[in-house]
Amino acid sequence: MDGIKQNSQLTFKYNKSFGRHGWLRLTPAYSVKMVEQILSELDYLPECVFEPFSGTGTTELVCANRNIPAIAYDINPFLVWFANAKCSVYSTDVIEHFLASAKDIITAVSGISPCDYPPMYNIERWWHSRQLNYLARIKAAIWKEKNNQLFDLLKIVFCRLVIALSNVAFNHVSTSFDDSKDNCEFTDNDGNNLFLSICEMIANTISEQPKAHVIIENKDSRYIPAEMTGKFDTLITSPPYPNRISYIRELRPYMYWLDYINTPDDASDLDWRTIGGTWGSATSKLSMWEKKTDLLPDYLFDIAESISAADNKSAGLMANYVLKYFDDIAMHMKAAYDTIKDGGTVHYIVGNSNFYGNTVPSDEIYKSILSTVGFTNEKSVVVRKRNCNKALYEYWISAKK
Ligand SMILES: C[S@@+](CC[C@H](N)C(=O)[O-])C[C@H]1O[C@@H](n2cnc3c(N)ncnc32)[C@H](O)[C@@H]1O
Repeated sequence: MDGIKQNSQLTFKYNKSFGRHGWLRLTPAYSVKMVEQILSELDYLPECVFEPFSGTGTTELVCANRNIPAIAYDINPFLVWFANAKCSVYSTDVIEHFLASAKDIITAVSGISPCDYPPMYNIERWWHSRQLNYLARIKAAIWKEKNNQLFDLLKIVFCRLVIALSNVAFNHVSTSFDDSKDNCEFTDNDGNNLFLSICEMIANTISEQPKAHVIIENKDSRYIPAEMTGKFDTLITSPPYPNRISYIRELRPYMYWLDYINTPDDASDLDWRTIGGTWGSATSKLSMWEKKTDLLPDYLFDIAESISAADNKSAGLMANYVLKYFDDIAMHMKAAYDTIKDGGTVHYIVGNSNFYGNTVPSDEIYKSILSTVGFTNEKSVVVRKRNCNKALYEYWISAKK
């Protein structure tokens, strides 16, 4: 595939300067530009879009800004809260009061008792003691806010602050600690200035109000309720990839601070329910996994056999990982088929992967499953290279009902 570029415009990086899309990053988020491209290449105007793997809500926000209603699901309650907050229409009253209430919070922060620190393992590696104490005090002040919309906005600012004050480099999907950062100089004043600058960024980007109503629900896209039958003419999504990336791993600082998880078991239980998740005990559970559908192509079992024959102690688990991932995607596609009206189209942006030298051709497998569940006209187009050295690509897979 000579000539295919990495094209960072098609990744989360592009979203940073796009209003609300830049509020909070998720490395596996896709780009506003990708959603725009899919919408612009449709030969009809969608009436209602389904986004089954919402993440940070990129799809629904692009749709809402174009006056296209959408319903989205995500299994992660933190992301559901965040995407709803990002796609909400904010009243002028809230917008007017936002910066004033931010100022009240920094006035309160010096005299307030800190809330409990989140029960994260090795928390002092994440934040030095002064920053940690400041975060616990500003959280206590923010959590007194009674107006739900203001509270949402302030919690988003808090999430940004949590990362800005950490010793963590978020340059790629796996977080790394920078233990050398000096903390002795940090004062409340530094924290307050940072807090206010994030509030200003949010205030400057809030004014473009979504034109259509979108709803993000905390649901599992493998089990779509019957009342959704025939509700959508278009499905647009970027599902998890079969590459062992754990969203909870990246999101855990927010999820602990905002009380979505309290223990490592909470995190690995959620990761087990998340398609493609293998964090903590989710990996060992793979040994007991049993297939739930008969929708996978035969050649996938040959690939799994080659993976399991690799000279690595986790080879058997990784073979099951790949099979479980596609079995879960097949459950989702079978359920999604019923939600799409005749003539509607589905669009998945997904990457391939490689285990011990065995390529897992997600594009081919997606097309095969889409056809098996009843879709027609399956196509795939390479959209970008994901990595300089290896043959890892991202594909736009589409099909029609
Ligand atoms: C690649 S991310 C989506 C990124 C999103 N397009 C964005 O721009 O932020 C995949 C999402 O699928 C969600 N997910 C995984 N398994 C799921 C399931 N069974 N049902 C619903 N959502 C699920 C994950 O929590 C994650 O947010």
